[in-house]
Amino acid sequence: MNMFQSMMGWVDARFPATKMFEEHMSKYYAPKNFNFWYFFGSLAMLVLVNQLLTGIWLTMMYNPTGDGAFASVEMNMMRDVEYGWLLRYLHSTGASAFFAVVYLHMFRGMMYGSYRAPRELVWIFGMLIYLALMAEGFMGYLLPWGQMSYWGAQVIISLFGAIPYVGEALMEWIRGDYLLSGITLNRFFALHVVALPIVILALVVLHIIALHEVGSNNPDGVDIKKLKGEDGIPLDGIPFHPYYTVHDIVGVVVFLAVFLTIVFFFPDGGGYFLEKPNFEPANPLKTPAHIAPVWYFTPFYAILRAIPDKLMGVIAMGAAIAILFVLPWLDRSPVKSIRYKGIISKVMLMLFAVAFVILGICGVKQPDLHVEFVPFEITYRAMGQLCTAFYFAYFILMPFWTSKETCKPVPARVRMGH
Ligand code: HEM
Repeated sequence: MNMFQSMMGWVDARFPATKMFEEHMSKYYAPKNFNFWYFFGSLAMLVLVNQLLTGIWLTMMYNPTGDGAFASVEMNMMRDVEYGWLLRYLHSTGASAFFAVVYLHMFRGMMYGSYRAPRELVWIFGMLIYLALMAEGFMGYLLPWGQMSYWGAQVIISLFGAIPYVGEALMEWIRGDYLLSGITLNRFFALHVVALPIVILALVVLHIIALHEVGSNNPDGVDIKKLKGEDGIPLDGIPFHPYYTVHDIVGVVVFLAVFLTIVFFFPDGGGYFLEKPNFEPANPLKTPAHIAPVWYFTPFYAILRAIPDKLMGVIAMGAAIAILFVLPWLDRSPVKSIRYKGIISKVMLMLFAVAFVILGICGVKQPDLHVEFVPFEITYRAMGQLCTAFYFAYFILMPFWTSKETCKPVPARVRMGH
């Protein structure tokens, strides 16, 4: 027995280290037909770690007060602290990367029916992560205390004011003041650096535990546990470690190449990752000409604006997120993967993705402007309304077409090389 083995023996007698490693890595049998869409789960973990580490260092230099926040970021962090700019951009661009990765990860789930039984809880924990991530992104954006931080937060907090009877009181409770102030900044700081990261981390653990309890889905939607060898191991399963740990390195390398190119050369993403007015300190007396949230919120912002009535808009926006939670029960198809679903499912999913992207564009544009990328005359407002209607129709009609359409037969074994 070498030194490592005897050390592990000592640990294992006191803590289930090897048992856990086997359960979740070397003896966790994942389907052998994962494609590139399966990179985004591990990439989400990578970005999470990036956000936590860079966030800790940013916190060391940050001054969470109305008077000091802007200068502590723009002067101290960006100019005085060695490589402070890098830490800041890794974190601010990392927020956009997080959402990009998570959106692709969710879309993968929608394509391959990964939310279907028995993975409903994996999906629900995922949706809770998504909600917490939205809160995390929103509160983080207030912290540099720039113009968009201030006015963006003003707009979002004012949405709570639309709630009848309690709206005003609720807004005051959230702000901790009669208007958005350093007090609000201070509490958002506490929530952003302590409370929400703990919630997100805990949810990610639950997400993975739920997934490993039932096993991963795959691009064919075939249940690999149905066909096991004499050793009890699924015939189409391979140990996660070393096969997928090595496989995922490919995803990590490609991701880092893209991510770091953006961090080093286009850290503000042309005004989409860090909006231009945010390089000016917050000024409660001067409203920026156009207030738009960061790109990852704009699809929902467009849904909010699609409805003229404020309260109804807020309800529609909430419903747009809430409906995703019940997706596992809306899909009645006998098959999981889009590969074997009928033509209606394929067309609808494609249109859904297009509508979501268009909603994202509508959310940053002035509602009265005309849409440039379509061959007919339509304003961004009307376009946003059309896409909102489609967004809801997609989910509401799903039980009907999925239970009616003809699907292709699902093979007994997974297919490789597709
Ligand atoms: C911090 C954010 C997240 C992290 C770190 C994360 C992590 C992971 C990992 C590592 C996997 C296994 C590898 C893979 O299948 O890609 C996974 C699977 C999955 N995740 Fe997430 N996830 C996150 C957010 C979400 C969200 C927002 C949703 C959807 C609402 C979601 C839904 C799923 C589903 C359905 C699976 C199972 C996929 C399958 O077996 O085909 N996840 N997640």
